[in-house]
Amino acid sequence: MTTEDKLVKEILYTEEEIQKRIKEIAIEINEHYKASDEIIIMPIIKGGLNYTYDLIKHIKIDLSISLIKASSYHLLEKLSTPKISLIDDINIKDKDVLLVDDIVDTGETLLGVKKILETFNPKSIAITSLFYKENNNEEVKQMKSFVCWRKNPKGFLMGYGLDYDEKYRNLPYIAIISYN
Ligand code: IMP
Ligand code: MG
Repeated sequence: MTTEDKLVKEILYTEEEIQKRIKEIAIEINEHYKASDEIIIMPIIKGGLNYTYDLIKHIKIDLSISLIKASSYHLLEKLSTPKISLIDDINIKDKDVLLVDDIVDTGETLLGVKKILETFNPKSIAITSLFYKENNNEEVKQMKSFVCWRKNPKGFLMGYGLDYDEKYRNLPYIAIISYN
């Protein structure tokens, strides 16, 4: 048994289910931005990378990619404030920015990133994520969001970009971690 096998409590979404849902969400995104001449796709690395790679294959609007880095977890323990750093030159003035992340949990990472990006005066900032936990932050709720699964996952997730101790991002499926 590998460490991966021991950690997987339950497979939440298979590779096929993920790819199917991404195609559906891309239709919503294409519809929303149909009047836009360019979207800046901004993956929040590292968790948003797998999703970005598959999502952009289905986006029909001209796009460019700009990376932003945020980290908020050490193992299963959350850091009090997310660390955010810009990786690329930011050229988003008057542009539509679509952030891509694995999961919006408390929304702190998202708000931290949004605050930094707003200083560059983009036309709009929206988020697309695989998961989106219910949260009470009004500013997070007000943001336009395209979410693959809104239903609250019942544990810590790994795979398809989601890491446990920086590992298992490469799994093609999403699993709930077993703590035993
Ligand atoms: P937030 O700042 O509370 O919204 O946390 C969001 C970030 O925490 C995500 O971008 C993930 O990197 C990480 N995260 C939250 N929940 C999970 C999980 O269940 N598995 C792996 N990473 C997670
Ligand atoms: Mg992470």
